[in-house]
Amino acid sequence: MSTLSTSTPGVRYLNYQFRCIGCGNTTETAAQDFRCANCGDLLEITYPYWKEAKLDGAQVKFIWQDRKISTSAVDLSGVWRFRDVLPVIEREEQAITLLEGNTPIYDLPRCSIITGVTRLFAKHQGLNPTGSFKDTGMTVAATFARMSGFRWVACASTGNTSASMAAYAARGGMRSLVLVPEGKISWSKLSQALDYGAVTCQLRTDFDGCLKLLQELVRKAPVYQLNSINPFRLEGQKTLAFELMEQFEWQPPDHIILPGGNLGNSSAIGKALLEMRDLGLMSTLPKLSIVQAEGANALVRTLRETGGKQLISVPAETRATAIRIGNPASWKKAIHVLEATGGACEQVSEREIAQAKAEIGAEGLGCEPASAVTLAGLKKLVKRKFVKPDETVVLVLTGNLLKDPDFTIDFHRGDMFAEKETAGLNPLRHPPIVLDASLDAVMRTLEQAEHS
Ligand code: F0G
Repeated sequence: MSTLSTSTPGVRYLNYQFRCIGCGNTTETAAQDFRCANCGDLLEITYPYWKEAKLDGAQVKFIWQDRKISTSAVDLSGVWRFRDVLPVIEREEQAITLLEGNTPIYDLPRCSIITGVTRLFAKHQGLNPTGSFKDTGMTVAATFARMSGFRWVACASTGNTSASMAAYAARGGMRSLVLVPEGKISWSKLSQALDYGAVTCQLRTDFDGCLKLLQELVRKAPVYQLNSINPFRLEGQKTLAFELMEQFEWQPPDHIILPGGNLGNSSAIGKALLEMRDLGLMSTLPKLSIVQAEGANALVRTLRETGGKQLISVPAETRATAIRIGNPASWKKAIHVLEATGGACEQVSEREIAQAKAEIGAEGLGCEPASAVTLAGLKKLVKRKFVKPDETVVLVLTGNLLKDPDFTIDFHRGDMFAEKETAGLNPLRHPPIVLDASLDAVMRTLEQAEHS
């Protein structure tokens, strides 16, 4: 146990503060909309007491390793294992955990050849309990919701947040309310929320409309907001970077590439990188880059047209529905981490997303469309020489292949693009073949496949 993770039983001890990213105001409590009472900007969690506590890098790395052989739930969770850099809880049993995190890093030999980047890796967050990275944030934020006495939690979502929130609420004995855009999220994600018992509202609007409504709701009703505006979510999500660095034996990769939607995750990972540098846990800073779909490119346009000064909202349209967001809440935080780490921002087309998704599938891994923007974006970053072939690159695959079967089936059947657009994609397509149940027919198919 490090000094940072303990608190005297019965005494409310806070190891963190909320800090407004706009005016810098610090407080010990936050309003339900998680916005600054002075200027209305977003809050982040900071740890002013880390300096006093004199966190010893070598010691804390040892503690995190050591917890791996423990049998307690908080040690087995890939999030709470790093609790020394998280908001403190008084008792371990308070954590609502599904043993999230602990996700593998894979090499990508085929994608390496395609991109020319020899040291190319994927950190697969789709292998979390509900199939996306959201679980790493939800375990922390749901825990703080219950500790604060809330019976209801709520979110607006493009699908993964709602699936994750519903699971953690169920696990923690809370009720959950989900607001999703009608017809714009995959059935897989919707079905998860239903099974985990959420009250699920399909609203006739887009994600941005759902989030706006949720922000109004939390000011009127005693429900705890679990969108990534909630800074406890981002604290949980940041542990991905701590885990990643541990897996790389604290030798930082040169680049980490993430998809950008509401921009909470990239903000969280960037925050973690800066914290690790400040704590002396690693010597160099990886460049964090963000990739968006062309049809939902608010950050790309914000940087290009205003130099990052003012958000350009866009009407979002992409088949990568997880990132179908036109008015990203955490845009300022994301710009801060892009600037602080020296990362880049890219956009990719629908065709490039579909191709990259199939290429990740061909590695035997697979991911959902929003995650595949990372590989599609990497190709462009190599082309513009921002990423060099001899650098180490990690793609964060945010969601599981099974999250969006409609996309996958449409792609392989050739129902996604017009005939003339699919030419280069054909070698990646493996449509299902309907046959009579005869040995001959199957043998013929096998032979044809062998020679194709
Ligand atoms: N990848 C996946 C699979 C996602 O579900 C999301 C966001 C992102 C990337 C983008 O992350 O918003 O932090 O920039 N999904 C949210 C949801 C919005 O409601 O599930 P971000």
